[in-house]
Amino acid sequence: MSDEPKSKNITWHGAEVTQEQRETILNQKGCVIWFTGLSGSGKSTITRRVEQKLLSDGVHAYCLDGDNVRHNLNKDLGFSPEDRTENIRRIGAVAQLFADAGVITCTAFISPYRKDRDEARALLGEGRFIEVHVSTSLEECEKRDPKGLYQKARSGVIPNFTGVSAPYEAPTSPELVVDTEGRTVDECADEVIAYLRARGFVPAP
Ligand code: ADX
Repeated sequence: MSDEPKSKNITWHGAEVTQEQRETILNQKGCVIWFTGLSGSGKSTITRRVEQKLLSDGVHAYCLDGDNVRHNLNKDLGFSPEDRTENIRRIGAVAQLFADAGVITCTAFISPYRKDRDEARALLGEGRFIEVHVSTSLEECEKRDPKGLYQKARSGVIPNFTGVSAPYEAPTSPELVVDTEGRTVDECADEVIAYLRARGFVPAP
């Protein structure tokens, strides 16, 4: 896809409120916590727990989730490499808007390609993009198989399934690696929240 907009006579309008003013008013710093990992690794479960915990602390947080976004915004996309790239490009753009609005934005997409994640990172700017690798092994994801998809992928019913018949490129230098094996959802979510507090994205409780 070209970087140039198709529309010609359009003008960018900057905001009247600066990012700093917005963050002072909201008492939080907008960012994107980009969870990446295999299907069934626990991305959605952890992001939802992070969202829940932050909201109960009075922090404005919101989750964008793979399966949900594919029901509407990205319902025209499948799982070919090109469609996955476009899926992540759109999510990156939406997440940027949320972060710009000051929201702690959690995204839960497999996002299997390093290049696509790096483009989302570049869009957000260093410091506002927190890549979290939910590092649950393929073996464990397949054992959990919460939606029965691995079984279908192994029997050939679902083609191009990440980890089975399509690639997953693990992050090389994520801000955080969350290992879910043998740990509770609360422990995993708390690890992410501790990172946000330590870096001043959200206030200490
Ligand atoms: S991504 O690769 O484009 O980032 P995304 O996170 O939106 O994927 O969607 C992944 C979810 O779609 C999986 O958790 C699973 O429920 C479902 N799914 C259906 N088909 C596939 C497939 N071929 N590969 C991976 N996930 C699939």
